[in-house]
Amino acid sequence: MSRTVIRGGLVVTAADEIHADVLIEDGRIAALAATGTPAAEAFTAERTLDATGKYVIPGGVDGHTHMEMPFGGTYASDTFETGTRAAAWGGTTTVVDFAIQTRGGTLREGLDAWHAKAEGNCAIDYGFHMIVSDVREETLKEMDLLVEEGVTSFKQFMAYPGVFYSDDGQILRAMQRAADNGGLIMMHAENGIAIDVLVEQALARGESDPRFHGEVRKALLEAEATHRAIRLAQVAGAPLYVVHVSAREAVAELTRARDEGLPVFGETCPQYLFLSTDNLAEPDFEGAKYVCSTPLRPRDHQAALWRGLRSDDLQVVSTDHCPFCFSGQKELGRGDFSRIPNGLPGVENRMDLLHQAVVDGHLTRRRWIDIACAAPARMFGLYPKKGTLAPGADADVVIYDPHAEQVISARTHHMNVDYSAYEGRRVTGRVETVLSRGEPVITERAYTGHAGHGVYTPRSTCQYLD
Ligand code: URP
Ligand code: ZN
Ligand code: ZN
Ligand code: ZN
Repeated sequence: MSRTVIRGGLVVTAADEIHADVLIEDGRIAALAATGTPAAEAFTAERTLDATGKYVIPGGVDGHTHMEMPFGGTYASDTFETGTRAAAWGGTTTVVDFAIQTRGGTLREGLDAWHAKAEGNCAIDYGFHMIVSDVREETLKEMDLLVEEGVTSFKQFMAYPGVFYSDDGQILRAMQRAADNGGLIMMHAENGIAIDVLVEQALARGESDPRFHGEVRKALLEAEATHRAIRLAQVAGAPLYVVHVSAREAVAELTRARDEGLPVFGETCPQYLFLSTDNLAEPDFEGAKYVCSTPLRPRDHQAALWRGLRSDDLQVVSTDHCPFCFSGQKELGRGDFSRIPNGLPGVENRMDLLHQAVVDGHLTRRRWIDIACAAPARMFGLYPKKGTLAPGADADVVIYDPHAEQVISARTHHMNVDYSAYEGRRVTGRVETVLSRGEPVITERAYTGHAGHGVYTPRSTCQYLD
């Protein structure tokens, strides 16, 4: 039996804060005991990690990543190998990535393809959601099979006509199926049909710079789609999870639905909490670095997002990590913002940026761990194996130094992308050591993991409904 003990840290979970020693046996949490008590003194192990003055927290669960995602004629620049290694550097020990059904293809083909990309390459554990882009009768049947084998959530798009787009009838059918089989529909809520009209009109006026990406993808069109998705889910009797919420008007729709008692959930991302249309407007095409959908909003939307996270109208912060290099990839959209591949890098930065939100007074420490670890684990059926520190849980543990200062930069990050969306930003707090199922992946700021350590992790259905 292999044993590790972590001594002297402040253990922070979504529920508690306690000065405790943590005993790990064979990759799982075996016991916790208050530091200095006879129970803690009795812990014996071959390896002792000193966490005095540090936090001991569950590894982050990033419920929304796109490694190697095909988009706009290119591929997201992080592979499962580079992206999961970068995640580990940032204190994330589980990612749930999106397998893609191509039009005319089956869910099975999409899922097999994503398994092939990930297997043997990941530094940390991973699961899959399924992007459903072609709702046919056989697709609906396949959804049942996927739920059985641990792919329990399905993303649909109200945006990107001709690519991932589903119309309201297709959405309703998938929601009805999810209501039956226990699946969770994740919605990209933007009115893509209306947006495409505005894109065409903007380009015809010669408005081709990245900032126009933010102007045509209007907050009202996010709110309208969010409202429509909520009501379609209500008609179907299905729960709903709205991904990458950025507009305050969309938060208001979620708040209203939750006040009505509907099983409706929301996710936002660090880019919407820390960046804004000011970034999209950066000169010399630099704004392209910040093109993602939903788009960045004017800074005055951020207060509603922070409030939503505090009031539990938003439950989860994921990254929507979908990196494209500025050179050669974002540049595909010079002269036409609609050709800029959509997505931002961030899988490495999420835990630190959200810790900065604790320092800044937006969140409590426990809420930090909730939105970044426990809530995504429960939302996607991984709890309490992932997302908390409790006897029996996987020993996915981060020793976090809350006082270390760092400056985020592409020069020092580990994501396979040639820029940082947070270049030059000072944050307080840093990951020191990361264990994945008890194995050191990051040891005092050195990478000690290996590709293939991470395993596929099937998921149960959404635990927010239990
Ligand atoms: O711009 C984004 N968000 N790219 C990734 C795909 C998606 O819609 O989540
Ligand atoms: Zn999306
Ligand atoms: Zn996404
Ligand atoms: Zn290993």
